[in-house]
Amino acid sequence: MSKRIDPEVRVVYGRLWHYVTPHKLIGLIAVIGMAAIAAVEAGLVYLLQPLMDDTLVAKQVESGKWIPLAFMGIFILRGLAGFATEASLGWIGRSVISDLRRQVFNKFLTLPIKFFDSQAAGPLLTRLTYNVEMVAESVTSVVTIAVRDTLTVIAALGVMLYHSPTLTIFVAILFPIVGTLVWLLGIAFRRYSARIQDSVGEVTQVTDEIIRGNSVVKAFGGYEYERDRLAAVDEGNRKQNLKLIRVRSMGVAITQVVFGFGIALVIFMAGRQSIEGVLSPGQFISFFSAMMLMLQPVRRITNVNATLQRGVAGADSLFMVMDEKDEEDIGTQEIDRVRGHVRFENVRFSYGDEDGPVIDDVSVTIGAGKTLAIVGHSGSGKSTLASLLPRFYELDSGDILIDDVSIRDFTLSSLRGNISLVSQDVVLFNDTIRNNLAYGQLKASSDEELMKAAEAAYILDFVKDLPEGLETVVGDRGVLLSGGQRQRIAIGRALLKNAPVLILDEATSALDTQSERRIQDALNVLMKDRTTLVIAHRLSTVEKADRIIVLDAGQIVESGTHAELVAQDGHYAALYRMQFSDE
Ligand SMILES: Nc1ncnc2c1ncn2[C@@H]1O[C@H](COP(=O)(O)OP(=O)(O)OP(=O)(O)O)[C@@H](O)[C@H]1O
Ligand SMILES: [Mg+2]
Repeated sequence: MSKRIDPEVRVVYGRLWHYVTPHKLIGLIAVIGMAAIAAVEAGLVYLLQPLMDDTLVAKQVESGKWIPLAFMGIFILRGLAGFATEASLGWIGRSVISDLRRQVFNKFLTLPIKFFDSQAAGPLLTRLTYNVEMVAESVTSVVTIAVRDTLTVIAALGVMLYHSPTLTIFVAILFPIVGTLVWLLGIAFRRYSARIQDSVGEVTQVTDEIIRGNSVVKAFGGYEYERDRLAAVDEGNRKQNLKLIRVRSMGVAITQVVFGFGIALVIFMAGRQSIEGVLSPGQFISFFSAMMLMLQPVRRITNVNATLQRGVAGADSLFMVMDEKDEEDIGTQEIDRVRGHVRFENVRFSYGDEDGPVIDDVSVTIGAGKTLAIVGHSGSGKSTLASLLPRFYELDSGDILIDDVSIRDFTLSSLRGNISLVSQDVVLFNDTIRNNLAYGQLKASSDEELMKAAEAAYILDFVKDLPEGLETVVGDRGVLLSGGQRQRIAIGRALLKNAPVLILDEATSALDTQSERRIQDALNVLMKDRTTLVIAHRLSTVEKADRIIVLDAGQIVESGTHAELVAQDGHYAALYRMQFSDE
């Protein structure tokens, strides 16, 4: 059937083949094992002839002794070969799964944030769990079909030819008929397989959301809505699976019916040959058994397209992720510790091509060790502006320079190594407080440094009441902690990093006034000799900044010190007055 495989399938399988080739030796064992199985099974049906003619009909004593022994030997060989095949194919299959899974995972680590902004998490998770398994299963099945089944058919045909060339020709005529029928059914396969994989992704997505958002579901009575949502995607999954099962079982049924006609024909022919005296009972039994032996392998061979398609559908989605462009990292500047002179030059940025600019022609300079405060209404682009500095997103135009070097000219690791970040949404991992503090490259920090940071961020304050202290596991995304505690860990992490440039995006928003004041003291000490971008809704933390910019719809509408801006009596003064009246 190989000539019918379309070019795209060949490309995908060519790529998959690279995952198999490192395991050549094990592959060789599998091939030998499969060849042995084919030979042994053909031997078995061949033996039926002397068993019938010599032992049972002619009653030869000699053959009554060696044939049982031969049977024993054959079954021992069959067992050994079966074990070698299963074990080695399994080994290769699991290796392919691991390779694919790790590669896609590693890819997730290096893809730009933009990629994840545009993709739902569910289908991405499914690629790592479901799709890789489908792919490996398909690869091992195809290998089995290509080697074991093909050899079994050849060996069985050999036995048949040996006994009766005429009858064999009758059987051979059936092959193209069966092949064409099943191939036609196989066309539908890839479509269904791809849809099944998509629908598994949707099921994952909905489930993931109700697990994460369980409290919202409960508070707003979203049970009905979520049940319906899952039922809808699950129904889609069920329907596609049923279609797949229908096509597959139809293929099986049709092959069997056609084969049945063939068998009837063969029995009819055999009867005539037997009457003419050209076919002994033993030859007939052996021929017939060889034909039955072929039944399963022939069915799988005719179905190989479907098996291929299932793997291709899975592999396609994996390769699509692997082919996505990584974050661009072509800079070469490696600076251990920048001084921290930061300059935004006519920076323009939009999230999507069709969206308007979110940052519109922003130019601002922050001297080394100075503090820039960014204020403005919600959605004015404050977080976005700050996220451009560590190159989380690429600029549309303009440039950002640190110590007069464009951030594009730094290596990403050097650039980000120089920046500490406390983001608006605190991200904690399901690990201990200690490991969340000393995350990633901070793993290398000493215990003393860790304790100092924990102390300064007032983490020890609440940790001392925990029975397991710093070894307390914080739960999924840190759910076992309060919002303020989570924020303190994020601040501690930034303190521990001790980088010359600091971004504080609403770093203390979840804290009460008293805790905030204390942490602000710690932050003030930290900010003293560091370049800091601070975004805060409480203007008390903004007052002391060396410069304040007011953003509105991505543009700087005001800029100056606190005193200057209050005197200007514009946006900032209005914001300031509003807050004053609050307090
Ligand atoms: N990942 C994203 N993809 C597309 N648009 C986004 C994304 N993140 C933010 N935006 C849009 O960009 C604009 C600016 O968002 P940004 O988060 O920078 O505002 P902000 O000033 O930090 O607001 P807040 O004070 O509420 O934190 C908003 O209109 C928002 O809808
Ligand atoms: Mg924000």
